[in-house]
Amino acid sequence: MPRLGVNIDHVATIRQARKTYEPDPALAVSAALLGGAEVITIHLREDRRHIQDRDVRVIRELVHSGLNLEISCDPEIVHIACEVVPDQATLVPERREEVTTEGGLDVAADSDRVASAIDRLQSKGIDVSLFIDPDERQVAKSAALGVGAVELHTGAYADAPPHQRDEQLNRLRAASEQCTASGIRLHAGHGLNYVNVAPVAQIPGMLELNIGHSIIARAVFKGLETAVREMKQAIDAAMLTLD
Ligand code: PXP
Repeated sequence: MPRLGVNIDHVATIRQARKTYEPDPALAVSAALLGGAEVITIHLREDRRHIQDRDVRVIRELVHSGLNLEISCDPEIVHIACEVVPDQATLVPERREEVTTEGGLDVAADSDRVASAIDRLQSKGIDVSLFIDPDERQVAKSAALGVGAVELHTGAYADAPPHQRDEQLNRLRAASEQCTASGIRLHAGHGLNYVNVAPVAQIPGMLELNIGHSIIARAVFKGLETAVREMKQAIDAAMLTLD
């Protein structure tokens, strides 16, 4: 059964819209855990558009296991991660002009920078995951870099028109098989929602799904605890149909 990682960045996005103190993403942690989140995911971006340094420190104190910190390979951000010591750091690409993380990390093209970030994080005992596109070359390079896990970018699958969805799902399945064969733990995320999560949850070997936007969108109407619980139920239901 894949773990559910709940990305609470959007709670901080609302706070930063007014540059005030509420809503506090640290309070979202409690609601998400009560709803059944197994992992809390936050992204400390270089531009600090949502999560702030203080949030990372406070949330680290609240989450005793299962804190996943998304970061770029920027040395200063890696330094903060090394001080905070999340349970897992997921390295992601970052561009200031993007609305959200748009593509996977190009591990093959940027391998020195990625390798240096991995070394520094692993030397602090932090488990490192790489956020990559479901692409053979990226998986092979990730395996060569010695990370414990990769998170496959599900954005192309989530955004695909209905007639292309199977093709995108097959790309995810092929990359997943390659990960499992290479001994890399398998995670996925981006653009997953209550409707499209099932086929990704059902991919053999899938261990963690990181989901933000759709859960926070539902939380506006139903509350965060309920929204998380309903996503857990969607994943559970998908797994039950496999039995
Ligand atoms: N995984 C990673 C690496 C991400 O960067 C994001 C977006 O912050 C997510 C998962 C969650 O994506 P979404 O908000 O579309 O569910």
